[in-house]
Amino acid sequence: MFITIEGPEGSGKSSVAKKVAERLEKEGFEVVMTREPGGTPIAEQIRNVILDKANTNMDGMTEALLYAASRRQHLVEKVWPLSKEGKIVISDRFLDSSLAYQGGARGLGIDKILSLNMFATDGYFPDLTLLFDVAPEIGLARIAANANREVNRLDLEKIEFHQQVRQTFLDLAKRFSDRFVIIDASQPYEKVIEDTYKVVKERLQCK
Ligand code: TYD
Repeated sequence: MFITIEGPEGSGKSSVAKKVAERLEKEGFEVVMTREPGGTPIAEQIRNVILDKANTNMDGMTEALLYAASRRQHLVEKVWPLSKEGKIVISDRFLDSSLAYQGGARGLGIDKILSLNMFATDGYFPDLTLLFDVAPEIGLARIAANANREVNRLDLEKIEFHQQVRQTFLDLAKRFSDRFVIIDASQPYEKVIEDTYKVVKERLQCK
């Protein structure tokens, strides 16, 4: 089972997913957490180029291609082999981030970025996508308050960019309603963990 977690900056998705993974492991499931861009040494090198704050003049399509290249390497080296072994793989961001950030917020077009990604992934989609939805004002304030979270090149975009990211994610949840579930990430942390756990557990039982 391949689960992806998506959402705007500061939605808390990474720490919530970690807690849920720990709970599932205690129950005997084999869970592997990974992230994009990155997840393998080559993909992490690509990540450094993409997120480097010095690369202010990176072209939008170059950015989209680098995310897709990192995604391909991550799938080949990590996600596909682990899924084959029967592990539950949870990826912190995947294809829908490219659709929301590059396709929507950068204005490159959802369908153009979707077809680029279909080429990169051989048309592979997650079984379940959890969208941690929160208003950008709340998300960005959380990042500012978290000293452990390094600010990257995309965090530095204007509030309108982050609003567009959120709106595109919500549109994608409608378009791909068979695999998307929206989690209200503005709720207290413990409630977000509980909601997420319930959704994942339900899907695992359907499998
Ligand atoms: P990261 O530090 O992992 O942020 P977060 O904790 O919010 O997940 O940085 C990843 C950044 O890259 C984030 O701003 C979202 C962006 N991104 C894209 O624009 N397109 C993509 O395809 C992916 C995977 C991420």
